[in-house]
Amino acid sequence: MTSSVLITGGAGFIGSTLARRLVDAGYEVAVMDILHPQVHTEQSSINLPPSVRLFTGDVTHGPDCDAVLRLVKPSQIVHLAAETGTAQSLSEATRHGSVNVVGTTQLVDALGRCSHVPEQLVLASSRAVYGEGAWQSGTQIFYPPPRSHAQLAAGIWDPQSPTDEPAVPLASSAASTEPRPTNIYAATKLAQEHILAAWASAHDTNLSVLRLQNVYGPGQSLTNSYTGIVALFARLARQKQALEVFEDGRILRDFVFIDDVVEALFSAIEKPPARSRHVDIGSGVPTTIHELAQQLAAICDAPEPVVVAKFRDGDVRAAKCDIDPAVHELGWRPKWSLEDGVRALLGWIGA
Ligand SMILES: NC(=O)c1ccc[n+]([C@@H]2O[C@H](COP(=O)([O-])OP(=O)(O)OC[C@H]3O[C@@H](n4cnc5c(N)ncnc54)[C@H](O)[C@@H]3O)[C@@H](O)[C@H]2O)c1
Repeated sequence: MTSSVLITGGAGFIGSTLARRLVDAGYEVAVMDILHPQVHTEQSSINLPPSVRLFTGDVTHGPDCDAVLRLVKPSQIVHLAAETGTAQSLSEATRHGSVNVVGTTQLVDALGRCSHVPEQLVLASSRAVYGEGAWQSGTQIFYPPPRSHAQLAAGIWDPQSPTDEPAVPLASSAASTEPRPTNIYAATKLAQEHILAAWASAHDTNLSVLRLQNVYGPGQSLTNSYTGIVALFARLARQKQALEVFEDGRILRDFVFIDDVVEALFSAIEKPPARSRHVDIGSGVPTTIHELAQQLAAICDAPEPVVVAKFRDGDVRAAKCDIDPAVHELGWRPKWSLEDGVRALLGWIGA
């Protein structure tokens, strides 16, 4: 029997790439998506295979969820529908809370009304749930609070250790790093994890939570000013603009290519866990923003990037993760280097 997968938010960057992967592998795929204008500026931005059933609907609206689930009884649901503006969430908390939290509760309530329990729920969560993450100073591990505006204005970029000794960030790991969200988007992503864990447990079904690092690649919205830095830098570097790098240039991120993320989601779908799993998905290779900017400038023949000591309130200093548990659990491994990935992104932008 053909397995069917419902992808909420499936017309977006990750969802549409996953939909294509699943169709190629013989799955029946349905997508529920509101086609949010901040993401989908024109019809051409929707890139789904013809066999995918697209339901235009709002996950925060119970009757929309009912209508989809009456027609589709998916073996698995991949929940991607979300508001994703990290900085934007601080001034639009209700919008993020509504879509990410209420949208998740509406979805599971609708499953209850349809008396349908999928074999697995898969959630794309975020590394944002860790906030500043765990740091180490000497032998001491500590969880720094968010960096204050005053600290950043004084140019003190690294979180302060309790002993004032130099500290280094540790790779986040779902098994051992405490989630400490520092923005509203992150808080809503953690809430999604808890809601789906409670529902899956109460209904004896399986849950995979994949905490994604910074995803980039072809298909990413280039017009949504709240999307990732790789897309933004790539667009500017192509225009031969000098990239501005914030703080001291040493903000650390794990940039993971879209195809690697989709393979991780695909592996989670193919191999549901015994009950639940929480894993971190990244390239496993941390990169500074300055290194990213230099690489893009070199490829595009743009001027040298400029480190400008500006900052954004709410940005975390370092994000990197331990991918070994995902490699072990999913039988998956990222394949794309940053250089190959940005070349693929630039090729797509230029097309
Ligand atoms: N892209 C990343 O770097 C990244 C990192 C970590 C986690 N994630 C998570 O992955 C998921 C997908 O992200 P993406 O990068 O593909 O984002 P995206 O913005 O490209 O896609 C999200 C999709 O959700 C849809 N949507 C928004 N509100 C909706 C609603 N009320 N009802 C139905 N659909 C709605 C949008 O129209 C869009 O098509 C999100 O849950 C996000 O939190 C993404």
